[in-house]
Amino acid sequence: MTWQQLEAECKNCEKCALSETRTNVVFGVGIKDAEVLFVGEGPGENEDLQGEPFVGRGGKLLDDMLKMIDLDRSKNIYIANIVKCRPPKNRDPFGTEQEACIGWLREQIRLINPKIVVCLGRIAAKILIKEDFKITQEHGQWFDIDGVKYTALYHPAALLRDVHRRPETFEDLREIRSMIREICENTYNPQTPAF
Ligand code: URA
Repeated sequence: MTWQQLEAECKNCEKCALSETRTNVVFGVGIKDAEVLFVGEGPGENEDLQGEPFVGRGGKLLDDMLKMIDLDRSKNIYIANIVKCRPPKNRDPFGTEQEACIGWLREQIRLINPKIVVCLGRIAAKILIKEDFKITQEHGQWFDIDGVKYTALYHPAALLRDVHRRPETFEDLREIRSMIREICENTYNPQTPAF
């Protein structure tokens, strides 16, 4: 399947009840052959209205975090979500909804073919890294899955609620920058100085 076919099919998806309440399918944003993929949980209200991931307050924080390590959704990464439609009242997506939707992300990962996948929060880490992932203990660690490096950060919404988690996240971001320097060829071009 090509990217265009995938996007068109996904935008017509009616595999679960979230399709009945959505304004837009939030397919993803960024560079389609990026070496680094970020994966969140699912669209919130602003994302549902605008059709783009992470455009609310959490999105502003995410953009600021990315900027610290020279990443930018319009330049060198792709951003997608586990579920493509907004769960009502921003509840966590049900397991059944995640299962119905995950095929779209799996196909995006196949086509993007990233070297690094960064899960934003517990829900993405549980589905992409391992079922018993503990975000408080395992954020920032690296997991090799089928030749791809996976890690997880606290979700930006969690960082808005609890600023005490930000220093750890800053360290995790530095680790991500080091890993990008080590295994990616195109993401930093030219290489940026260390901070
Ligand atoms: N939270 C997410 O996990 N994804 C979004 O796109 C927006 C908020």
